[in-house]
Amino acid sequence: MNGKATPYRVVPFAWGSDAAKQAVAIRFAVFVDEQRVPAEEEIDAIDDIAYHVIAFDGDEPVATGRLFDGDAEKKLGKIGRMAVLKSHRGSGAGSTIIRALMEEAVRRDYGELALSAQLHAIPFYERHGFSAYGDAYDDAGIPHRMMKKRLSPSRAT
Ligand SMILES: CC(C)(COP(=O)(O)OP(=O)(O)OC[C@H]1O[C@@H](n2cnc3c(N)ncnc32)[C@H](O)[C@@H]1OP(=O)(O)O)[C@@H](O)C(=O)NCCC(=O)NCCS
Repeated sequence: MNGKATPYRVVPFAWGSDAAKQAVAIRFAVFVDEQRVPAEEEIDAIDDIAYHVIAFDGDEPVATGRLFDGDAEKKLGKIGRMAVLKSHRGSGAGSTIIRALMEEAVRRDYGELALSAQLHAIPFYERHGFSAYGDAYDDAGIPHRMMKKRLSPSRAT
């Protein structure tokens, strides 16, 4: 893909569905094959309870991400497993995914979103309103920093 904008179709899916298999394939291509995250760490218990979305370029599944409850009392949501196939990076697929997750976070009335960002991806998340905080740390052999973003109430634009 070049940098030209592509209209991606984003849909939520249930864990265990056919779309989930396609999302797992994207995550394994990106995190396990490309970034060398141990395969046994890729799928976890959060997958059973998370809100998942997948983006298609035509019929081709190209990107995915998930949102889950970080701390219900604090109205904190967490975003994770943001993955875009290498062939489709830089063409808006990741932005389409994170916007869909942020819209769901507003629907759920979360007041704040947090995520664990690989250092190289910090500028991407900053473009979507997240700010990094705290020191860098290692997760699965990859340096990360925490990032957060306050959300406006659902009736505000
Ligand atoms: C990080 C990732 C999800 C971004 O998705 P993407 O589809 O490539 O990003 P987009 O095309 O929507 O980019 C949106 C903007 O962020 C910028 N951007 C994207 N990735 C970037 C990066 N790694 N570093 C700096 N800027 C980046 C783009 O230049 C673009 O800027 P623009 O709007 O001014 O043109 C994707 O690159 C990816 O899956 N990387 C590998 C897996 C990974 O590291 N996931 C994140 C784990 S925390």
